[in-house]
Amino acid sequence: MKTHRVSEATLYGVKTLDDQHQRLFNVIEKIAKLAGTDDFPAIEALVEVLRDLLATHFSDEERLMIETGYSNAREHRTQHRTLLAEIVRTQRQMLRKGRLSKRDAHDTVDRVIRHMLLVDGPFKTHLQRIGYRAQAIKVQDRSDHALLSGIVSQF
Ligand SMILES: [Fe+2]
Ligand SMILES: [Fe+2]
Repeated sequence: MKTHRVSEATLYGVKTLDDQHQRLFNVIEKIAKLAGTDDFPAIEALVEVLRDLLATHFSDEERLMIETGYSNAREHRTQHRTLLAEIVRTQRQMLRKGRLSKRDAHDTVDRVIRHMLLVDGPFKTHLQRIGYRAQAIKVQDRSDHALLSGIVSQF
């Protein structure tokens, strides 16, 4: 499995969201490495972290779309719901089977990266076009952010 480095193309220049993209890369990379092994407890925990991280990230990204008047916000939001539902489905199958196949892990990695490039990409273009400045971000600090960072940093 090749290493997935966070690509410049997936970074917004908005610290909160970019940190989340970086964490997402780290988590999917670890899931891909462990898939097919018998370290199921670790895989199970990582998929749970991925799900939580995606939910938080999507909510923060959607807030910024609304704040900056992004015309494609609705469609992007739908893509978030679809992706999250796919991850939940993969997680359920994994729990039922007691393992995560390499193929399912690859699909998960692929879905997340494709979203960042093909769906987040146009939002990044929008932010650049309006000259959005990172310090203007109004994503609220939430206590679960700190909690989640703590959990993610364990992996
Ligand atoms: Fe994103
Ligand atoms: Fe997105």
